[in-house]
Amino acid sequence: MASCQCDGIEVIFNEKMANKELKTYRKKGPTGLTQALISFFTDQGLEGQSLLDIGGGVGAIQHELAAAGAGQVTNVDGSSGYLAACREEAELRKYADRATYHHGDFVELADELGQADIVTLDKVFCCYDDVDSLVKSSAAKAIRYYAVIYPQDKWWTHTIRIFGYLMSKIYSTTFRVFIHSTDHIDMLIRSSGLKPIHSEKQIFWQMVIYGR
Ligand SMILES: C[S@@+](CC[C@H](N)C(=O)[O-])C[C@H]1O[C@@H](n2cnc3c(N)ncnc32)[C@H](O)[C@@H]1O
Repeated sequence: MASCQCDGIEVIFNEKMANKELKTYRKKGPTGLTQALISFFTDQGLEGQSLLDIGGGVGAIQHELAAAGAGQVTNVDGSSGYLAACREEAELRKYADRATYHHGDFVELADELGQADIVTLDKVFCCYDDVDSLVKSSAAKAIRYYAVIYPQDKWWTHTIRIFGYLMSKIYSTTFRVFIHSTDHIDMLIRSSGLKPIHSEKQIFWQMVIYGR
């Protein structure tokens, strides 16, 4: 992967962490705003709608929406460990035949990928430095909905950057955590022709679902 942030992603979001998270997901299912995002789509019915999940991790959104009737699922992830864990679960749940997996930086791969009815990025903006390119290239892929979960831009959320710094020291990587401006992200998404239709907040995270 060309981006140094994505080199760090590969080290931090490694196989060991992926297996641990998959185990937790199997035990507890989706939680927090991830569950809220899933409920938003399952409540209104999916009817074969396609999903592009960027930085899907072990794949909570993919697995739940596929089970609820989503059609083609595409997962792009900078972590090969997470990608493997996600595919393992899709095989177990017997929907891997309608899923495709791409390893790498979404910004670099975007031109090779098609659009989807629903595009999701759950806790991904905070792992990526060039948020302008990430938002613009991903929002352009959304045919109907663009759903994002990312940290609120508050003084207390900035403290998480210390955690990112410690992780980078422990693992000797260039990985960093970013708290991007909410107003700036919202402006980028709106200028891609999307409007907010639903939002929820918790102490740290915020979820906004945009529609076209
Ligand atoms: C904090 S994890 C969140 C995983 C999952 N969405 C969740 O909520 O559990 C961030 C994920 O985003 C991925 N990621 C970050 N930036 C990315 C990029 N530019 N392209 C592809 N994947 C990216 C990482 O590899 C990782 O799987």
